[in-house]
Amino acid sequence: MGVVVINFKAYREGSGKLAMELAKIADDVASRSDEYIAIAVNSLDLAEIVKEVSIDVFAQHVDAVDFGSHTGRINAEMIKEKGAKGSLINHSERRLKLADIEFIVSKLRSLGLTSIVCTNNVPTTAAASALNPNYVAVEPPELIGTGIPVSKAEPEIVENSVKAAKEVNRNVKVLCGAGITCHEDYVAALDLGAEGVLLASGIVKAKDRKTALEELVGLK
Ligand code: G3P
Repeated sequence: MGVVVINFKAYREGSGKLAMELAKIADDVASRSDEYIAIAVNSLDLAEIVKEVSIDVFAQHVDAVDFGSHTGRINAEMIKEKGAKGSLINHSERRLKLADIEFIVSKLRSLGLTSIVCTNNVPTTAAASALNPNYVAVEPPELIGTGIPVSKAEPEIVENSVKAAKEVNRNVKVLCGAGITCHEDYVAALDLGAEGVLLASGIVKAKDRKTALEELVGLK
């Protein structure tokens, strides 16, 4: 069983009503698939979506703060209370300082939540693994949103990230992402030693999202 995490980003198709629709599609496909399918949604949609689906729902980001005088911030405790499974951290579209990444990983762990730290290459994957998150997700930024799959275009990044991560921390699981669209891309990622994929546009922006996800996990 592989891991498929769908990041809804701030796409129009991944927000509000369309986010709920996609969340239910993912829930339905997950119930018929052997793969572990989870979603990462925006913080406004999170609470409502959690109530409607059985799959794990992640936040796309949390701030590195405790409760206190932090205007406009959302911390890990808040997403936990809404029923999130965990959060993406340091996505390439939401980069953080090293100290903040460490703070959030530790905080999520202490709350029993799951952390997925995004990285951009092999050295940052090794560095992130040292912080002991549940997952690292390596995504070369130049391939994000292109439809050119990292698992085919830059297989060595995936393979070497898995090696580097495991050398630093045997427990960390490695995902890869950027350009993943179809079953072949997904299988290629698994063949390279990744536990699964973190993906967005290939599903969120697909014309027929249900069929796209079914194809990705091999149901079609
Ligand atoms: O978080 C997933 C992401 O950055 C990859 O995006 O659109 O290339 O699947 P995409």
